[in-house]
Amino acid sequence: MILAELLTLKRSDEAGLAAQLTHQLRALMSGGQIRSGAMLPSSRTLSAELDVARNTVIHAYEQLAAEGYLRLAPRRRPVVADDIEQRFAKPAPAPRRDAPRKPQLSPWALQLSGSDWPLSYQAGFRPLRPGLADAREFPHEIWARCLRRSALRRRFNDQTVINRPSLREALRDYLEISRGVRAEADQILILPTAQAALTLIAATTIVAGDAVWTEDPGYPGAAAAFRAAGADVVGIRLDQWGMMRTRAARTPKLIFTTPSHQHPTGRVMPVARRTELLAAAEPGKTWIVEDDYDGEFHYDSRPMPALQGLDREGRVLYLGTFAKATTADIRIGYLVVPPQLARTMEIAQRHLGLIASVHVQEALAGFMADGHFLAHIRRMRRIYRSRRDSLAAALARHLGPVLAAEVPPGGMQLIARFRDGAADQSAVTRLVAAGVEVRALSSLALERPHDHGLLLGFAAWRENEIGAAVRIMANCLTGKRAARG
Ligand SMILES: Cc1ncc(COP(=O)(O)O)c(C=O)c1O
Repeated sequence: MILAELLTLKRSDEAGLAAQLTHQLRALMSGGQIRSGAMLPSSRTLSAELDVARNTVIHAYEQLAAEGYLRLAPRRRPVVADDIEQRFAKPAPAPRRDAPRKPQLSPWALQLSGSDWPLSYQAGFRPLRPGLADAREFPHEIWARCLRRSALRRRFNDQTVINRPSLREALRDYLEISRGVRAEADQILILPTAQAALTLIAATTIVAGDAVWTEDPGYPGAAAAFRAAGADVVGIRLDQWGMMRTRAARTPKLIFTTPSHQHPTGRVMPVARRTELLAAAEPGKTWIVEDDYDGEFHYDSRPMPALQGLDREGRVLYLGTFAKATTADIRIGYLVVPPQLARTMEIAQRHLGLIASVHVQEALAGFMADGHFLAHIRRMRRIYRSRRDSLAAALARHLGPVLAAEVPPGGMQLIARFRDGAADQSAVTRLVAAGVEVRALSSLALERPHDHGLLLGFAAWRENEIGAAVRIMANCLTGKRAARG
């Protein structure tokens, strides 16, 4: 076929003849009418066939060569580039979401479809949902100033390190004074969440099949992270002091615990139990992971120092999050590792991409250095304590004969069990439908549910909101309309 027959140039077209020619040749190549390796006519021949100036054709060919469509060589006819078909191959249709894809996923990913961990939270007011800080009380104006300052400072772009020294140092000082954690700044890794700390620990310590002990009932995120690494997660029952003493056939590779406020019961592990736990973890064989997710909030006495500070053998990995102490949206967690692990852990952090925004790290360092963080937690401690008391009082007043509340000395949630020993799930379904988003204690069991009750958050709601929620609960659970107050 003569190329000129495929081309129609309009002399009146504002785009100009060279531009029209370039466009039409490009369309013919990308559309597959002119294929890789084809030789185009010389500029002299094509200009004659089209009755245009030779320069018009030369201009079009040069443009297409610059775009990679043509290969030009002196005194040779232009040749269409070899990779034209690949470049313009039609993309394969997107796989259908319902297409069977199972064999391509890991066993871990396959079981994720059963996860009840929400990816988005229902907007609006969901009182008594546990685990939430009150974002309304966070000093957003001050925080905005810290973010702005941090962003502007980054214009000068000093060295970029993944764990900002300013935040590491601020955290080291804070954790030492308030939690008795003993560490150098370079033992502290700054992560996007506490969950990221668990992922990092699991990836660096677990060999598939290793035994890992976690509290039962306990924090499901921990079991999820260790199972993802192939661990055999064993639930350890609780007594009033937290994780019970256990003798097991297999030495665990790792023990996960929340000693400052056991999640979900809020029980505080006394020093004697902490010492026993440390003694049970033979150095070099068993790591202890201490999750101090809401250790800032203790109401009735001074907080117990962290296990990490009691450890002399470097076997405790201590982690925390700013999600509870500030607001969930801040998305910063941290991990304090024993000195002998610091370098490997930081390299692993880089390899896993568990890196937090430098802007936010610097902003948080400023927020802490200027005293705003301590001021905020002191204020929230007072507020949350009063909300805890308010929830306990409202439950006693409106639901005393039905529910027995276990009032924790700290934390952000409490457990109320049915006095008649009833199971929790159907009550939770009714309460959630009525707008009170409590959680079933049985849902936090590692394997078979053995402990039933309602997990009620008190931190994120004002006292009048707590009162209203408990009246709804009373109506739902007793069928009686509760009086205000
Ligand atoms: C015991 C415990 N650890 C860790 C976390 C997770 O914190 P983050 O949101 O920073 O991953 C939570 C959150 O609810 C928690 O309850």
